[in-house]
Amino acid sequence: MRTGLKLVSVMALMLFVCGCRTDPDSNSAGTAKPPAQGDQANWTIGMSQCNLGEPWRVQMNADIKAAADSIDEVEVVFKDAQNDTLKQRSHIEEFVNAGVDLIIISPKEAQPLTEPVAKAMATGIPVIVLDRSVLGDQFTCFIGADNKKIGKAAGEWIKAELKGKGKVIELRGLSTSTPGQDRHDGFVAGIAGSDIEVVFEADMKWLEPEARKEMDSALARFDNIDLVYAHNDPGAHGAYLAAKAAGRQKDMIFVGIDALPQEGIAYVKQGLLGVTFQYPTGGQEAIDTAMQILNGATVEKQIVLGSRSFTPDNVDQGGAAVK
Ligand code: FRU
Repeated sequence: MRTGLKLVSVMALMLFVCGCRTDPDSNSAGTAKPPAQGDQANWTIGMSQCNLGEPWRVQMNADIKAAADSIDEVEVVFKDAQNDTLKQRSHIEEFVNAGVDLIIISPKEAQPLTEPVAKAMATGIPVIVLDRSVLGDQFTCFIGADNKKIGKAAGEWIKAELKGKGKVIELRGLSTSTPGQDRHDGFVAGIAGSDIEVVFEADMKWLEPEARKEMDSALARFDNIDLVYAHNDPGAHGAYLAAKAAGRQKDMIFVGIDALPQEGIAYVKQGLLGVTFQYPTGGQEAIDTAMQILNGATVEKQIVLGSRSFTPDNVDQGGAAVK
């Protein structure tokens, strides 16, 4: 019975979002419902994902869905911005117009998504920002791992592995996204005081094909490369493939971040990566936090998730906590 009601509610919301309904006061038509009493509560959460082209983001949505599926009172409407910032800005406006009860956003870029998120907040809709942040503080809560800490741990691992000296390539995540900035800053702090030289760095925009292209350029320019630090595992894999095509993959170590079982962890087990650092999706925590907010609780402004590092030596024992 309730499932039927939820289905009708979500279908109505989707029609509305598609522009098939234009009446913003259409709550009575079964779009987002106001909270009811007790177990009759029925919440609609709008989730804007910046893209679904990468396994990590598919996993985030799956984690959100799994967490939400276990709660009768909540329904999540997912939208995929396909790596298009303007599309993602529209998502937020559509969710506001549809009158969802709460928005979760994993923004592609910080600055351009700041304003729509602030506007949603101004209409009274709570917003959880997940993994990549926006600017300022006009959101209810940010959930994500500490990217500076992960970057620093990567830098320290690299410093130890290279015994304080060597030539490194840094393949950076999208420079207009906060994890790209933080993983760089952390890394710089981690290698401080060493003779490690970053001979080439490029923005590979989190994308494996971009990383491969940038690595081709680096390989053409430098005969000696000791290590590649990529801000995510797809980037590290792209760099590995470029080096392999040049017959040079055994000359260097590859470092990545994310540690999905089927991606980074598998690469470590296959001997492709020297280390990967877990970057949890926060999907479960986002739904847990959303339920607290919807039930009237005040939540922490920043919810910081932990990370683990995985090397060939510890991967079978579940890795080691990043401190
Ligand atoms: C996926 C991704 C992950 C990375 C995260 C940073 O889009 O690039 O690989 O850890 O985003 O926001």
